[in-house]
Amino acid sequence: MTEAIDTLILGAGAAGLMCAAQAGPGTLVIDHARAPGEKIRISGGGRCNFTNLHAGHENFLSANPHFCKSALSRYTQWDFIDLVARHGIAWHEKTLGQLFCDGKATQIIAMLVEELRGAGADLWLSTRLVDLSHDGHRFHAVLERDGARVTLSPRNLVLATGGKSIPKMGATGLAYEIAQRFGHTLTETRPALVPFTFSEAPFAAMSGTALPVRAACNGTAFEEAALFTHRGLSGPAILQISSFWREGEAITLDLDPEARLYEALRAQRQSQGRRNLSTELGHHLPAKLIGHLAPALGLSGNLADQSDARLAEITDTLRGWTLKPTGTEGYRTAEVTLGGIDTGGLSSKTMESQHLPGLYAIGEAVDVTGWLGGYNFQWAWSSGWAAGQAI
Ligand code: FDA
Repeated sequence: MTEAIDTLILGAGAAGLMCAAQAGPGTLVIDHARAPGEKIRISGGGRCNFTNLHAGHENFLSANPHFCKSALSRYTQWDFIDLVARHGIAWHEKTLGQLFCDGKATQIIAMLVEELRGAGADLWLSTRLVDLSHDGHRFHAVLERDGARVTLSPRNLVLATGGKSIPKMGATGLAYEIAQRFGHTLTETRPALVPFTFSEAPFAAMSGTALPVRAACNGTAFEEAALFTHRGLSGPAILQISSFWREGEAITLDLDPEARLYEALRAQRQSQGRRNLSTELGHHLPAKLIGHLAPALGLSGNLADQSDARLAEITDTLRGWTLKPTGTEGYRTAEVTLGGIDTGGLSSKTMESQHLPGLYAIGEAVDVTGWLGGYNFQWAWSSGWAAGQAI
């Protein structure tokens, strides 16, 4: 069957599997891993946050924020929900429109492989790309599988090897290298949706403490939970804002995102004036966090000792806690790679290269990065579908 391969897809992850299911007969997907969709398997704590009810172009970062619009609007979250329903996979909304499987994430992988096989495409695992060239008409790809070498000459080559995050799971920069070789440029790549680190582990004593915050950086803010860790800061609000942060910059945490603290403390002063200020703050914030902030806030005395101005000063400080991370945990734990193959060289409708007809790039390898919450898979489904349809 090898001579009959017209489309070779590199990477059997979310985008590659979806693309193959659309491209159909004459399509081969290869992956160097022993199993397809390994990131799907571990995603969402093993239940895969496979899309988001509210997914729209505004939930994505890219040097060209318009690029993702076409694919997202032609293969939407509702299309993927229909597919999941046709396969009898039960799901639930957890929070903020995030949809998860009731059962295991492996159901999504099994569904995609079934779709791929049903469409007449093929999947080779534990397969390496050894050599690649293009003769002006077709690609020539030398593959190594089970110790044997096979040469294919497909018309189409789809780059679907994802980003650089979690190298331990087999992430490589192959899509970037091939794209560059055929004339594409890359936008700067960096770890995103990633915890922050700080020198001297300032939060070690309150590691495990979580609370709702509004995390802000560079004009963007997310209201979700933050989590103090031994190494620094994590939790959904922090992962979200990490995509907007750059080295050397500060982030701001509003520890009272609902703006209730000032009035609450004034009311407590009326009824519990003789109580200790720190203890009373403990009704609103975790005790360990108050212990950490007490010296900087100069917390002392009873509530009755605090004037309105002093209570305002304390709440203002808690609403604008500025922190300067030293860095992030990097690709070791980042959920995604920000940046990638510059969308300027791709068709937003088909994902085909404008430099070399027959070359396509989809999924995380492209400079389109979603927020936390099922958006990155939706981009993989939408871009994979768009390329697969065009092929
Ligand atoms: P993906 O990374 O899925 O697939 C790339 C494939 O290419 C892999 O199978 C890899 O083995 C293969 N490959 C790489 N280099 C190769 C080479 N040189 N030769 C051959 N094959 C090669 N998103 C979301 O929307 N909801 C969620 O719940 C989560 N959760 C989550 C948890 C964790 C821990 C991580 C790391 C990431 C997430 N994500 C997520 C992000 C999501 O997993 C990611 O954006 C998509 O998997 C990207 O799909 P792709 O198909 O582009 O790449």
